[in-house]
Amino acid sequence: MKDFQEAAARLERGDVIGLPTETVYGLAARVDRHLGIEKIFRVKARPFFDPLIVHVSSVDQARSLTSVWPLAADILARRFWPGPLTLVLPKAGHVDSQITSGLETVALRCPKHPVALELLRTLNVPLAAPSANRFGRTSPTTSAHVRSEFPEENLLILEGGPCEVGIESTILKVSPMQGSNVQLSILRQGSIGESLLTQALAQSRISCTFESPVAAEAPGQMKHHYMPPIPLVYVQRPQSEDLGPLLAEINSRLAEFPHDLEGVALPKPTAPLRAPMVLQLNENPIFAARELYAKLRELGRGPGDLLIFFHESSMIGESWSGILDRIQKAASLHLT
Ligand code: TXA
Ligand code: MG
Repeated sequence: MKDFQEAAARLERGDVIGLPTETVYGLAARVDRHLGIEKIFRVKARPFFDPLIVHVSSVDQARSLTSVWPLAADILARRFWPGPLTLVLPKAGHVDSQITSGLETVALRCPKHPVALELLRTLNVPLAAPSANRFGRTSPTTSAHVRSEFPEENLLILEGGPCEVGIESTILKVSPMQGSNVQLSILRQGSIGESLLTQALAQSRISCTFESPVAAEAPGQMKHHYMPPIPLVYVQRPQSEDLGPLLAEINSRLAEFPHDLEGVALPKPTAPLRAPMVLQLNENPIFAARELYAKLRELGRGPGDLLIFFHESSMIGESWSGILDRIQKAASLHLT
């Protein structure tokens, strides 16, 4: 495949490429090409304090990037890889500190996408790759999304079709083992939740405790993210037939829409909003995750000037939590 060889050649000379994974498309560079790592941050306009996930082709390759490989990490990697689980572990000395933003840990995952896996195996070098969107914006789930994020770049994007999972991987910090117990911390929710992790470890007679992350451990988990170009309101109520009263309520609270959050400019309405659109998702969370980002992009283009999401009471449980987390972070106003 011509694109494949071209991708390898570009990576070799320290360039970046668009890479399909099962979660979202990534903007990838070789971990041993500092130029490429720098280019990722520049192209995305990503702050240097926000570290990158390193993609590997095997457990052994992951292990070579760490200084400690706890039994729990081994069990989880062998159970969930290739797949949407990122493990945060103490890093090996040779890992470029720009990748890890100076942290002592590195985030690792093996993606479950034939194109990504084949490229990783061919190169036999890990690839650092954040989601292929400009900082703070909605993650891409098709190659066309990636193209539209960086129209000015002559970016080679490997075609991998629409992403199957649709939201980013679960990020899990794994502490060193204490006997047969391990302390875990979910830094970002995704499709693999606490119960699946607990079950997998229990099968190997490992118990685990979940701790809430401290801010310094999760530098990229901003309050605001995934932002569509028109304001999104998160409504924790059942959907109403008549949107009129809700629209009036939202218009009475326009002053509460922030101009920016954590340095990312938000779509702040200046005149009364008139044309609400509803972000409607499939009732099955697997399909809802798959369609979420494409819908956010499509609806974000209009013709409406406001997006409303109704958090229905049926959207409960671990399989919804990653999806609801993304929508909350994309929202400018929350109504309960
Ligand atoms: O599904 C995914 O994880 C996608 C695909 C492309 O693999 N990647 C992705 O990357 O979502 P990105 O950069 O958009 O989000 C990675 C998150 C960031 O919030 C970053 O702060 C966090 O991972 N991260 C990376 N290294 C870390 C570390 N050593 N400790 C804590 N958090 C880390
Ligand atoms: Mg991202």
